Amino acid sequence: MIRKVTKAVFPVAGMGTRFLPATKSIPKEIMTLVDQPLIQYAIDEARAAGITDFIFVTSRGKSALEDYFDASPQLEETLQRKNKTKLLEALKKTDMPSGAIAYVRQRDAMGLGHAVWCARRLIGDEPFAVLLPDDVIAGETPCLQQMVEAYQDTGGCMVAAMEVPKDKISSYGVLDTGTDNGSVVTVKDMVEKPAADKAPSNLAVIGRYILTPRVMENLNDMKIGAGGEIQLTDAIAAEISSHDGVHGYRFKGQRFDCGSKAGFLQATVAFGLARDDLAHEFRSFLHEYLAVRDAAE
Ligand code: G1P
Repeated sequence: MIRKVTKAVFPVAGMGTRFLPATKSIPKEIMTLVDQPLIQYAIDEARAAGITDFIFVTSRGKSALEDYFDASPQLEETLQRKNKTKLLEALKKTDMPSGAIAYVRQRDAMGLGHAVWCARRLIGDEPFAVLLPDDVIAGETPCLQQMVEAYQDTGGCMVAAMEVPKDKISSYGVLDTGTDNGSVVTVKDMVEKPAADKAPSNLAVIGRYILTPRVMENLNDMKIGAGGEIQLTDAIAAEISSHDGVHGYRFKGQRFDCGSKAGFLQATVAFGLARDDLAHEFRSFLHEYLAVRDAAE
């Protein structure tokens, strides 16, 4: 029987150096896409997939994240007094019942695999999800929910997957694939950040995972991989020969790499245009702005 996935790990310990100086004093996961911090998108997606236990792997300087998910009695009182029901409603999303969210610290930055391993005691003997908040995925059905549904048939480990251009492939975990039904592919091998000419395919791992607790055991080996780091990809690859194996899942939706400046800007445009309250004004601004620029060139 396939066990329900109710726990999710959010690795949020990274220093976010690509967004300095902004990230000097705010965690990158608090950076705002339209009007919500990045982390809120990942939390909403996890909730939609049935996750009830949220585990944050944090580091020094991330207290703004903890405050974000804390109650804010003074703010709520003020809004209530002023009858700001819409704003109160918006705040509800940040509500985490006591005990639903747990924080563990990654003391040394030793890679994504190591960050996930830091949550091992809270995961115990259960399958779990991992969401990388840098990867923001817009879709009719949230990505992790799609995966949880597909996972009912596969069990084992599942990673979100997407084709990427060859010149970008070396930034990703890459899948060597076997059978492929268009959405679910069996994984024969996976390599972290291969050189473009060594990549087994152009199917890249995107930051959503459903993993068996054995992946945590594999991480106990502390095997050093690509970039001198302990890689999650390697610990998952060790499960390929297990009974249920590893599957890639080509999700339906658009993924934005909010770990890069260009990706963050693209997400801002896409999410801004998708908002009923902003679309009209924003679209005409973009239209006119580009027309004026094009005419000047
Ligand atoms: C991580 C993973 C990589 C995956 C990527 C997706 O890399 O190690 O396998 O393809 O996320 O965003 P990072 O972006 O942290 O270097």
